[in-house]
Amino acid sequence: MRRWQGDGIHFGGDYNPEQWPEETWSEDVELMRRAGVNLVSVGIFSWALLEPSPGRFEFGWLDRVLDLLHDGGIQVDLATATASPPPWLARAHPETLPRRADGAVLWPGGRQAYCPSSPVFRERSLELVRAVAGRYAEHPAVVMWHVSNELGCHNVHCYCDVSAEAFRGWLRERYGDLDRLNDAWGTAFWSQRYGDWAEINPPRTAPTFANPTQQLDFLRFSSDEQRAQLRAERALLKTLVQQPITTNFMIGMNVKHMDYHSWAPDVDLVSNDHYLTAADPLAHLGLALAADHTRGVAGGDPWLLMEHSTSAVNWQPRNVAKLPGQLRRNSLAHVARGADGVLFFQWRASRAGAEKFHSALVPHAGPDTKVFREVCQLGADLRALAEVRGSRVDADVAILFDWEAWWAVELDSHPSVDVTYTDRLNALYGALWRAGVTADIVHPSADLSRYRLVLAPTLYLVRDADVEALHRYVEAGGTVAVTYFSGVVDENDHIRLGGYPGAFRDLLGVRTEEFFPLRAGEQVRLDDGSTADVWTEWVHPDGAEVLSSYTDGPLPGVPALTRHRVGDGAAWYVATRLDEPATDRLVARLLDEAGVRPAVPAPTGVEVVRRRDGERTWLFVLNHTGAQVRLPVAGVELLTGERCAGELAVPAGEVAVVREDRA
Ligand code: GAL
Ligand code: ZN
Repeated sequence: MRRWQGDGIHFGGDYNPEQWPEETWSEDVELMRRAGVNLVSVGIFSWALLEPSPGRFEFGWLDRVLDLLHDGGIQVDLATATASPPPWLARAHPETLPRRADGAVLWPGGRQAYCPSSPVFRERSLELVRAVAGRYAEHPAVVMWHVSNELGCHNVHCYCDVSAEAFRGWLRERYGDLDRLNDAWGTAFWSQRYGDWAEINPPRTAPTFANPTQQLDFLRFSSDEQRAQLRAERALLKTLVQQPITTNFMIGMNVKHMDYHSWAPDVDLVSNDHYLTAADPLAHLGLALAADHTRGVAGGDPWLLMEHSTSAVNWQPRNVAKLPGQLRRNSLAHVARGADGVLFFQWRASRAGAEKFHSALVPHAGPDTKVFREVCQLGADLRALAEVRGSRVDADVAILFDWEAWWAVELDSHPSVDVTYTDRLNALYGALWRAGVTADIVHPSADLSRYRLVLAPTLYLVRDADVEALHRYVEAGGTVAVTYFSGVVDENDHIRLGGYPGAFRDLLGVRTEEFFPLRAGEQVRLDDGSTADVWTEWVHPDGAEVLSSYTDGPLPGVPALTRHRVGDGAAWYVATRLDEPATDRLVARLLDEAGVRPAVPAPTGVEVVRRRDGERTWLFVLNHTGAQVRLPVAGVELLTGERCAGELAVPAGEVAVVREDRA
């Protein structure tokens, strides 16, 4: 792995000087220095300027920008600039434009208007990478390379003829022969049997439900095609440059279609973009989940927050601005959860273009603003936190997450549209957050041995090997909880016969004979006083003890919550959609059984996370409440430099980071 960490925490953002006259650039560098910015991403959307006509490159302006930054002591994460092709590409090669499932062409004029399978795009983009990397490989400002930008953000699924041909190639690789494909896709159904590869297409708009496995494979293929661009650019870069190579993922925010778990080996460091749903008063939970998931994708290593916002964005229906103090809480929450760098989109707010109402480090109103003052404050905070760089986050709980399970469970023609993938993930994560317990979000194939508790929300599609590993984990003393509509199908989206929850039947000691999804708004009660909705099923205990049963609804007397002792551990099954108080009670019982405690007990709404490096530990405390809190902590508070001898007071809305005294 190429080394990417500097002496402290990275701080900065996307810098798009090409949107401004050169006179502005020196002021930019002066303000960056004032704010403590030390890393900027340059050139992300510069293709049309760097190569104004095919094969003719103009690097003069970028030379001057990089030199200026270097003279100012600002390091550069240099983009390969392939994120959005210039208009000349589509004019010369209209077949590079992507198409929707109904055949509509997505035209240039926005961004990312290219077919991810286009050989023409691939070739032209790699020529650009060669030119840019060839010129700047040795530039002293460049410390990192930024492949493309948010690959797949707008063009992940292309249904054009070029993509159809690429899809066939991908299927040949996967299945080898048509018999195996017909088998995997279950084409005996609805007269879908394929006799020739040329008959196969992407799941274009059809009269009714398209074949589910065809859809699932197309989702896999589409993620792989985006990943292929990353791999191609990286392979070329590796022949030309020494610096670490990354691309910005979009983990969290409901971004569904890139399987970042599979992409992680293709970057030297994981970096992520995260934007709040600012209108949501509990948006900081979504932030925490995204950060914990990014860390999971990074295998627990420190990662880089490549983009977030200083205040409002421009692309939500109501772009709520951040209140004073929120920028600091948001940024430091990412650091608490393993980020070793905090970057933003973007340095200076644009005066033209679709993102002119997006916040930046330097707002339209200039540096004499709340935003720029908070940016300078954050720069100082991050300097004070330099020593946490490289440390890891303590977590005793794992939540299993698999993009393929997400894709499969949300295909059409299922028992209930109310069963969505992230619903139980968010519910369980929220309960842990309220209990002050940090979780790693990891792939089902991850090594689980270091965790005391493993949660498996809605793992509808699961591989045999991962089920076996979970079984061994429980036998060895682990505690696991699985929620409804898990284990139902194999990798081909074929039902596992013999009763639900299929793959988890033995582990959970239950057998379900029929699903009884509920009507919209319908609620059921359990004999422990809980309420639930969306889902019930006819569970028969088969070794498991019954913890609670329904008292009404379609299945009075049938188990809703069970627990199965397996070896030295236990496997719990949650067969219905518990409401929030019941989920909190369930998680409290699981934490208790597994012996998991919060880093430091704190009132609800106070986020506490511990980072650790050998013997040293740092406690991050983020007070999201409206009142001061006092916590039993001893050590040095790094943001103020003050000692706390046994009690730490954190005012409403504030953040504290304590290097703890050794116990
Ligand atoms: C990201 C993107 C940036 C900018 C930002 C706005 O999706 O990478 O270029 O568009 O969002 O929030
Ligand atoms: Zn295409």
